[in-house]
Amino acid sequence: MINLAILISGRGSNMEAILKSVKKNKIPVKPAVVISNKPDAKGIKIAQKLGVKTVIIESSGIKGGSWDYDKKIVSVLEKYGVTPKNGLVCLAGFMRIMSPEFIRHFKGRIMNIHPAILPSFPGLHSQRQAVEYGVKYSGCTVHFVDEGVDTGPIILQAVVKVKNNDTEESLSKRILIQEHKIYPKAINLFAEGKIKIK
Ligand code: GAR
Repeated sequence: MINLAILISGRGSNMEAILKSVKKNKIPVKPAVVISNKPDAKGIKIAQKLGVKTVIIESSGIKGGSWDYDKKIVSVLEKYGVTPKNGLVCLAGFMRIMSPEFIRHFKGRIMNIHPAILPSFPGLHSQRQAVEYGVKYSGCTVHFVDEGVDTGPIILQAVVKVKNNDTEESLSKRILIQEHKIYPKAINLFAEGKIKIK
């Protein structure tokens, strides 16, 4: 069985969708721990209500990409049995860049959800970028994390039509509905050994 860790920074709606889907659809992973880099992340209480252990590793003032900070994550993951052999680390609105050392440590075992059809609109405020650019379709992507920003191998995508009167908020809402569907699906594919990175 794969030991699953979910890393969050805020609301935690993807985390919630994943945890509920793991239970309901019997996805063969064990939710081992939810880690937040923000002490006030709303998702922490949701995880606790769903019976999952939570750990806060505060990151304020620490630059993204810091191996010193990421080492703390590694040691918490190890404590909860999430290892490079049997673990899966899912970034779900975790708003920090991971260090190359962390990515190499968990190579091929870190996933992320991004609110755009990559490689379009990587980085921050993707939904705003989509509305401002005037694209007619956007969506979301689950991908493996590599050393670039939102550049890793793509696992699943869902397309969302952009309406003429969409705002960043209205588009984000409709994309989020799709995020909640494809992230659990991608985890299930991984857990069933159905993903190969070529
Ligand atoms: C989601 O829309 C996710 O795609 C996005 O943050 C939101 C987190 O919401 N992630 C990124 O923009 C990463 N670059 P959630 O905390 O409710 O899951």
